[in-house]
Amino acid sequence: MSAQAFGDTHTVQKLDVVQRYLQTYATALKFQPFDLIYIDACAGSGSSVPKSAFKEEEAFRQTEFEGLVSPVADTDELIVGSAVRALGVNPPFAKYLFNDSKKANVDALKKTVKDQYPYLIDRIGFSRLDANEMLRSICSKYDWTKTRAVVFLDPFGLQIDYETLQILASTQAVDVWYLVPVFAMYRQVSGSGEINPDGGPRVDSALGTSTWRDVAVVEEEELGGLFDQPQLKPKRAVDVAWFEAVAKERIGAAFGGRILDETLPLGRNGIQEFSLMFAWANPREKAKLAAKLAKAVLV
Ligand SMILES: C[S@@+](CC[C@H](N)C(=O)[O-])C[C@H]1O[C@@H](n2cnc3c(N)ncnc32)[C@H](O)[C@@H]1O
Repeated sequence: MSAQAFGDTHTVQKLDVVQRYLQTYATALKFQPFDLIYIDACAGSGSSVPKSAFKEEEAFRQTEFEGLVSPVADTDELIVGSAVRALGVNPPFAKYLFNDSKKANVDALKKTVKDQYPYLIDRIGFSRLDANEMLRSICSKYDWTKTRAVVFLDPFGLQIDYETLQILASTQAVDVWYLVPVFAMYRQVSGSGEINPDGGPRVDSALGTSTWRDVAVVEEEELGGLFDQPQLKPKRAVDVAWFEAVAKERIGAAFGGRILDETLPLGRNGIQEFSLMFAWANPREKAKLAAKLAKAVLV
């Protein structure tokens, strides 16, 4: 098996939450007259190994090209990924849509699925697209009066566009777990108030607005120069928690306020890198069940 080299206890925490939700969801909707779909837009290769599982001198080889490691250094530390976990849910989903932008990951996932879940292969669709493109295409393809779906957005960084969230919300039929990269947002503003020229526009796209820029940087008066005269100096005025609050407010806006208040902060070495959030698209009263289920698996 080829695994990607990433992950930590926070990865397992995130995956456990989503897996518990999928199991609860599939059970709760078992007798409902809908086709249930699981959509994994950044599905990966099917598994990952924390980098800590490799000793430096061991054959740890992560080609920049493929992002996969093989052979696996310590299989005890193999983290089973979201796609494979979804395939273990019982009753099974009517369809599974697995996507990743990297060919090596899609190929590895295909192989794992063929080896471990050959009886589900007819229900699985694989694609190698940008996640936004994949989700846009799915949202326009299905009849959402007859279909319900759980979407997992698990990017490494700022890959998911706000517009994609709006499109997902417009189905009025999907539940979304989104690992929001709040540290990646924060990181685009330096302590001295410079917004990264490449990263800043990515934050704009992820939040669907550039108004965060007006708050994230302030100008403060400082004494300086040859005659120690007052000068205005820009500086960063916000922290990771602020980006988390803004992201939650923006995702909530896309989903008509249907976002779970509880979120799961995740990261390593005491740094919050991500925030796992849950939003649901269906405005009907009955659909509030989704939020109840999500809350139960999150806490
Ligand atoms: C955190 S990993 C996903 C892990 C996976 N959910 C699991 O449980 O193993 C993020 C994945 O997103 C993929 N990716 C990066 N940019 C992407 C994009 N624009 N569209 C789709 N996938 C992307 C990467 O190749 C990587 O496999």
